[in-house]
Amino acid sequence: MRGICKSFGPVEVLRDVAFSLCAGEIHALMGENGAGKSTLMKILTGIHAADAGEIRINGQPAVVRGTRQAEKLGIAIIHQELNLIPELSVTENLFLGRELTFAGTGILRHGEMRRRASVALARLNVTGIDPDREAGSLSIGQQQMVEIARALSLDARVLIMDEPTAALTEREIDALFRLIRELRASGVGIVYVSHRMEEIFALCDRISVLRDGQFVGCEAIADTDLDHVVRMMVGREIGERYPKREVSHGAERLRVEHLSDGGTIADISFSVRCGEVLGIAGLMGSGRTEIVRALFGVTRKNGGRIHLDGQPVDIASPADAIAAGIGYVTEDRKSQGLVLGLSVRENMTLTHLAGFSRGGVITAAREKSFVARMIERLNIRTRDADLEVRALSGGNQQKVVLAKWLAIRPRVLILDEPTRGVDIGGKAEIYHIINQLASDGVAIVMISSELPEVLSMSDRILVMHEGRIAADLDAQTATQERIMHAATGDTQC
Ligand SMILES: Nc1ncnc2c1ncn2[C@@H]1O[C@H](COP(=O)(O)OP(=O)(O)OP(=O)(O)O)[C@@H](O)[C@H]1O
Ligand SMILES: [Mg+2]
Repeated sequence: MRGICKSFGPVEVLRDVAFSLCAGEIHALMGENGAGKSTLMKILTGIHAADAGEIRINGQPAVVRGTRQAEKLGIAIIHQELNLIPELSVTENLFLGRELTFAGTGILRHGEMRRRASVALARLNVTGIDPDREAGSLSIGQQQMVEIARALSLDARVLIMDEPTAALTEREIDALFRLIRELRASGVGIVYVSHRMEEIFALCDRISVLRDGQFVGCEAIADTDLDHVVRMMVGREIGERYPKREVSHGAERLRVEHLSDGGTIADISFSVRCGEVLGIAGLMGSGRTEIVRALFGVTRKNGGRIHLDGQPVDIASPADAIAAGIGYVTEDRKSQGLVLGLSVRENMTLTHLAGFSRGGVITAAREKSFVARMIERLNIRTRDADLEVRALSGGNQQKVVLAKWLAIRPRVLILDEPTRGVDIGGKAEIYHIINQLASDGVAIVMISSELPEVLSMSDRILVMHEGRIAADLDAQTATQERIMHAATGDTQC
């Protein structure tokens, strides 16, 4: 790709960008949230048309109009946001738009498609996904695996992965990496977009960096290091990756006793004190999210008691939870965290309209100043507060979700994968906010699949295994190995 330019209305998103990919290489595309990575890859796959520039494939000029044509040219993409159609089955999603039919007829070869779907999932080492199941009933991590299986089954020569591991845990990531390396060995060129530095250095051969829509440089992994890449990305030093917090815990804020949901989780008991950060680790499907969904009143509790500041509380719905002062940043911002068609401002104030209104009328001034403060504090890249949230880059959307919950001034804040898709500078900003909230006395429950994050940010860590608490560790002495052992049901630790 050469000389690529792209504007959305008055906003210039890419300026004179170059990008090249060889056969048999894994090429990282990096840059801060909003730098233009997804946009560049959407141009390569024909979802957006470039305003200027050229694309060559095997030396030949190529015009890519639409995903279908990109697939014909051997280019497949796994999008940053999940794109499955929830009402269709796994198999139907895998073969959407390229259904197999009996020769010369329009009759669908259901059995064959189902068989190939199983094979595609087995290749990824995924078990427990029934090809007949509705995609919408799968967990986020499982949906991501289905998306990956779909892209793989296209047998593409160019495979673009935009944050493929965001919803996966270590074990799935291992399986995926094995497969990516196999694909490289067979000559596939892979573009890998991720904010996880450890992954980039473990997996990739070269790194290209974008900053504010411009190409900054391309380096071989062997010739560069983390500090250099961060400097290329942000143009400045970012300081500590995991800022330290002064630890001083207050009284017990939240106590959960024998919580069950009658399905995934059973007999969950823990407590969190004011100013404490409790991390929850575990593999995909281990029940981490189910705990907080039951706690927040999204799913029905089937036994168990909850106490807030020593008082029993009855939480039967999210409204009860919010009224009790509990905030919940969900893991899937697209379907649960944001209303995409509303503006940044509207999304931020949605949870707390009462606080911005007098006598039922929203006071614009208060709302405006809160929103402006949040945009500044979280460093959210948006043209203005009235832009639809849909138009923000992935990481910036995540920050809007966080802002929304800060509006209610929570007593307990639950964070499910709070930095998913957020760039390295933005992560540090979110960690600062977590620390700030903790020193203000908020009790924080943080689910995270990124072990360095759990270890650095938590005071204590609960490790889940098959719906139960397998270990309750002091973060000071916990290690990645101990967490992984407990998460896989190894009781020897
Ligand atoms: N359809 C659109 N309309 C208007 N602006 C858009 C649209 N799509 C993207 N943008 C803007 O283009 C810029 C680049 O967005 P892009 O999604 O490419 O960033 P990114 O590098 O992928 O970021 P992230 O790491 O957060 O995913 C952002 O400022 C974003 O708000
Ligand atoms: Mg993106």
